[in-house]
Amino acid sequence: MGGLRVLCIAIVLIHSHTIGAFAADGPLRVEAQPLRSASEFLSPALRAEQADPIRNRGMLWVEQGERLFTQPPPGGAPSCATCHARAETSMRGVAARLPAVDAASGQLVNLEGRVNECRIVRQSLPPLDYETDELLALTAYLTALSNGEPLAVSIDGPASAFYAYGQQLWNERQGQLNVACTQCHDQSVGRKLRGDTISSAVPTGYPAYRLEWQTLGSLHRRLRACQLGVRAQLFELGSREYLALELYLKSRARRHPIDAPALRR
Ligand code: HEC
Ligand code: HEC
Repeated sequence: MGGLRVLCIAIVLIHSHTIGAFAADGPLRVEAQPLRSASEFLSPALRAEQADPIRNRGMLWVEQGERLFTQPPPGGAPSCATCHARAETSMRGVAARLPAVDAASGQLVNLEGRVNECRIVRQSLPPLDYETDELLALTAYLTALSNGEPLAVSIDGPASAFYAYGQQLWNERQGQLNVACTQCHDQSVGRKLRGDTISSAVPTGYPAYRLEWQTLGSLHRRLRACQLGVRAQLFELGSREYLALELYLKSRARRHPIDAPALRR
């Protein structure tokens, strides 16, 4: 079954593309074109659900996130809201600026990392794992507070090396299928793949509710799904590889407004 699926994907890729684009060697062709969000390819029903805060199932996490942010955690630590009052204004735009290089550590830190840093340093609590309901809820809430804000990550100064690494990963062929991100998300946008329409990988809707997962998931979980699809070695959620790719994707889509939580197939 697994082998058959790989073969089917390979056949779809080869047949759905002009000669050379997926050839095993030769330079990758990069086309400059307007980026197309996966939201453009949603069915009308899902698109309507996504746009309706009452029906959007991702909003359950946003509401839980607001509660977690406001209420003091068990054990007497101050709540997030104690230090971050009026989150609607104080946290607006934060998700659009991350990931960013942390001056103290020199590391690239995304929203998940920022939340966990405050848990550890300011609340003396253990960090939350990726894909736990709590971390998804807090990041969904904080990201939704930036809805409409254009992505505005910095790739200057200390961020430039992380950006270059992300760009390298984007262009590198990987996995048994030997396909790079760019071959799908730059060169095959609009084509069908296993029932999906390939988008430009605009990362403005994450964390997003994916029907296949039956839950909300982080951007890093989505990147894992793409690596699985080409039978590649998976990186860890929160790893430097995914952080660099996140920076690259968010820079590539700069000025695209945040629109989370998105709904996906
Ligand atoms: C005791 C005070 C305190 C508590 C409690 C606290 N924070 Fe923070 N938080 C800070 C401070 C101070 C900074 C700025 C740190 C810095 O810039 O290095 C910060 C930074 C942040 C940032 C990054 C803001 C930016 O502009 O980049 C986020 C996101 C954040 N906190 C979320 C949270 C969440 C979520 C919680 C609860 C789980 C929380 N914080 C709890 C004090 C706190
Ligand atoms: C074989 C083709 C293929 C490759 C290679 C691939 N992806 Fe994807 N990717 C998809 C498909 C199909 C989807 C789901 C439909 C869509 O949104 O494009 C997807 C979705 C995504 C999304 C979510 C878009 C959204 O708004 O929901 C991101 C981000 C993404 N890919 C990034 C990457 C990155 C980074 C790489 C390289 C590590 C990569 N992809 C490699 C096919 C691919």
